[in-house]
Amino acid sequence: MKRKKIFGLLVLMAVMLSSVAQSSEVKQPLSDDERMEWWRDAGFGMFIHWGLYSIPAGEYKGQRVKGIAEWIMEKLDIPVAEYEKFAAQFNPVKFDADEWVAIAKNAGMKYIVITTKHHDGFCLWDSKVTDYDVIDASPFKRDILDELAEACRREGIKMCFYYSIVDWHHPQAQAPLYPNYNAGQKDKSVFNPEFPEYFENYLKPQIKELLTEYGDVGVVWFDGDWIPDYTTEMGKELYAFIRELQPNTIVNNRVDKGRQGMAGLNREGNFAGDFGTPEKEVPDTGFEGVDWESCITMNHTWGYKHFDHDWKSSEYLIEMLVEIVSKGGNLLLNVGPTGEGEIPQPSVERLEEMGAWLKVNGEAIYGAKASPYAKPDWGRYTAKDGVIYAHVYDWPEDGVLPIDGAIKAKRVSLLAEPKSKVSFDAKKGTIALPSKVGDSPVTVVKIEL
Ligand code: GLC
Repeated sequence: MKRKKIFGLLVLMAVMLSSVAQSSEVKQPLSDDERMEWWRDAGFGMFIHWGLYSIPAGEYKGQRVKGIAEWIMEKLDIPVAEYEKFAAQFNPVKFDADEWVAIAKNAGMKYIVITTKHHDGFCLWDSKVTDYDVIDASPFKRDILDELAEACRREGIKMCFYYSIVDWHHPQAQAPLYPNYNAGQKDKSVFNPEFPEYFENYLKPQIKELLTEYGDVGVVWFDGDWIPDYTTEMGKELYAFIRELQPNTIVNNRVDKGRQGMAGLNREGNFAGDFGTPEKEVPDTGFEGVDWESCITMNHTWGYKHFDHDWKSSEYLIEMLVEIVSKGGNLLLNVGPTGEGEIPQPSVERLEEMGAWLKVNGEAIYGAKASPYAKPDWGRYTAKDGVIYAHVYDWPEDGVLPIDGAIKAKRVSLLAEPKSKVSFDAKKGTIALPSKVGDSPVTVVKIEL
């Protein structure tokens, strides 16, 4: 009896100690390199654009939006009072957080960035500072972020939050010329004197909710940095505010005012933010010592658009992932779920194919870095300590793959078929390959040095 009690006590103490160790591990601020490590190794994440705009899906009263569908409110000048009505229709009964996370995980993605609030202002969580959210304004009444964060935790995927600084719904955040918001932006003399109040009493409390009520947040991904009302001082304050709430959270560069347009990297100067955000493009080269992530759509829109069927091929997307990693960046690939809560089937198919490729070749992507060698004609290189991965897009017809003269290979093999015969000719600096294996768009030769 006594023994049992002591044993029980010991077990309890061990459990308590380990949970103390765990929580202090999480709370300890890391160095910048340690903090960025999981993200740099991840290489591949899922962007989710989902909100009220998913309901009109690019078309309102017979008018079709040109370009990106999540801008429908602004592009078609829909008045706030009209647009708000979509909230009463937001009832995505097919939404299943486990399914979304499974789709991402199966694709080989390591993190998910979801639009908690896009420019239209509607919030996917139960915000205390507004009723314009899924719990108070929609019949759905389920906290989307809560369900997703739980599902991510179960599956070891990092939960990350996109948040728009721009807000077309909040009365204090609108430029005076709304709905011609873009006109307001272009004329720098038009500014909104109430914006600082929105920043202090709405934006910051919302960021606090996001960082205190959903567990560990991997990345806060800001957007809408371009409006003149938002200042670099606000950006720096916001960055510090987030790091105080969760010291190890990563924040993109759109938190401040340094971003140079769609190219996404910061201009010279002192700006807050941990990584650059090229949008819908891949830079020509990597950047020594600079972290960056290209966000890319699979068709032409971020938010769901029922008439955009122009999808990039899986092959193109796999090659793009390789290209990005070979330049030291990450790929944040977008899906735009429907108003009912489903990720469109063409997206699911492409993600499955990327996942199948990564299951075989992930070693050459996760934790891999840019290689020091010039881009070869037949594809790309990625690198790890003591290993170069040759990603062959164009299989040589004669089976002879010329590699960079500086590469001295000790052992060469194919990731897809480790047993097939591959050999290195040191004199010629070439690799002899078998005839093309399988129909994979990119075949990886592992070169151990
Ligand atoms: C742009 C668009 C926005 C989209 C974002 C993704 O800033 O305004 O709609 O969410 O790009 O990077």
